[in-house]
Amino acid sequence: MDPNTSGLVQKLAEAGQSHLLQFWKELSPKDQQELFQDLQGLDVLEINGFFKNAMETSSSTKHEKMDGRMEPVPREVLGSVTRDRESLKDWEVKGLDCIAQSKVAVLLLAGGQGTRLGVSYPKGMYDVGLPSHKTLFQIQAERILKLQQLAEQKTTVKCCVPWYIMTSGRTMESTKDFFSQHKYFGLDKNNVIFFQQGMLPAMDYTGKIILESKGKLSMAPDGNGGLYRALGNQGILDDMQRRGVEFIHVYCVDNILVKVADPTFIGFCVQKGADCGAKVVEKTNSTEAVGVVCKVDGRYQVVEYSEITLPTAQKRSSDGRLMFNAGNVANHFFSFSFLRDVVQKYEPQLQHHVAQKKIPFVDDQGQLIKPEKPNGIKMEKFVFDIFQFAKTFVVYEVLREDEFSPLKNADTQGGKDTPTTARHALMSLHHRWVLNAGGHFIDENGRRVPAIPSLKDGTDLPIKCEISPLVSYAGEGLEELVKGREFQATLMIDERGVHELVKNGV
Ligand code: UD1
Repeated sequence: MDPNTSGLVQKLAEAGQSHLLQFWKELSPKDQQELFQDLQGLDVLEINGFFKNAMETSSSTKHEKMDGRMEPVPREVLGSVTRDRESLKDWEVKGLDCIAQSKVAVLLLAGGQGTRLGVSYPKGMYDVGLPSHKTLFQIQAERILKLQQLAEQKTTVKCCVPWYIMTSGRTMESTKDFFSQHKYFGLDKNNVIFFQQGMLPAMDYTGKIILESKGKLSMAPDGNGGLYRALGNQGILDDMQRRGVEFIHVYCVDNILVKVADPTFIGFCVQKGADCGAKVVEKTNSTEAVGVVCKVDGRYQVVEYSEITLPTAQKRSSDGRLMFNAGNVANHFFSFSFLRDVVQKYEPQLQHHVAQKKIPFVDDQGQLIKPEKPNGIKMEKFVFDIFQFAKTFVVYEVLREDEFSPLKNADTQGGKDTPTTARHALMSLHHRWVLNAGGHFIDENGRRVPAIPSLKDGTDLPIKCEISPLVSYAGEGLEELVKGREFQATLMIDERGVHELVKNGV
């Protein structure tokens, strides 16, 4: 473990990164060992190349240039839950059919660090305070279980939806432990497959890798587009092929309403012969922090909220809607052959995006500095950057209140995308399911509660109502449980039956 004899000193010198060893003599043998291993595993020349390319593409004039090159999604590639109602059943049947034949897999992107939410554990382990206290992981697992059941009912043959979970160096162990402690939430352990994305060092503006302590590089996951490299080098593509997976639904961990392996979305994409598809909701507020699906230079892409200028975000079409209104909800469809081509051919062409960050570092004296303004960059690839390679790309528009309520921020920050908004969104959806299935809610005086909750104390509080995914995936199968009945909140419907928690004094 001698940096000189092993060639490490020379490797770093050639790459202009010699400063990484400047505190070597002060380190304990254990810290030396760890730093040595970290540096040996790093392809510094490749990282320098990433930095150069990423900085070039993120020049200051880029945003203006981007704005002029954007076009909205054309109508012919768009499917919609509201405009194409007559086709929904067909698409759903098609999707369920694919699921029943075990051709569909789901892939969860869960390698993020949840910085904005401010928790030290993976976001999927978060409990937003539902009556059941289920975590995001449990809700998603139960939706998969239910879907397998619905598909099996059609064919009476056992099927399986494998669940691939991408974690990062920081989230792998805790995620795996959590699943094992909870017995994989009832799923077959062999069909829950964890894999790990790569990490990249943070760099200062001159391209020097940042040390977060004397013996440790400042590392972060390489973005959710790190997926494609990881699929190849962790043997996941091979696993998919072995299982005969033909279609993959990729989604982000933080959306409490996510329809995992949504049969209608999958059926739509398959029927259109698409190799790649994206689910969107209508963006109605120009400053909302969602990316928009659009065309740039004639090729499909998501332009992130941070990459667009306000005048472009505010542009409206003649019907008064935002021109770029296809809000990306980070739910993507890929055919297996497309994914394989991406991994094997296109991945190296993907550019890293640059995020300017305040990155704690040790200075030349070994002092830890926490900067007050951005002092360097993190480089990330994005999952949707492969849309440009699709031969047949489609977009599927769904309703926000049914399908999109992401958990991004802590309640202490107030406002949008918090545990409270996520909890309310889920309960309000389930409230509507009960009403649609012919059930009613009454208050403590036995009076019917109006279907549309009124503003109470200035807050729009939903009826407390939660339906286990094990009972209903998307509102189906509830009539026999609720039709013509009156309930008092809190209503919980799970595999053990229908419970009114207040009446029972729970
Ligand atoms: C993401 C989308 C954005 C969309 C929004 C909707 C990307 C790049 N952006 O933005 O277009 O409008 O969701 O909610 O997809 N992750 C990893 N590895 C990483 C970084 C992130 O697996 O290195 C995962 C996270 O765990 C999460 C997902 O990717 O599940 C999204 O990451 P996040 O940073 O929350 O993306 P947003 O900026 O919110």
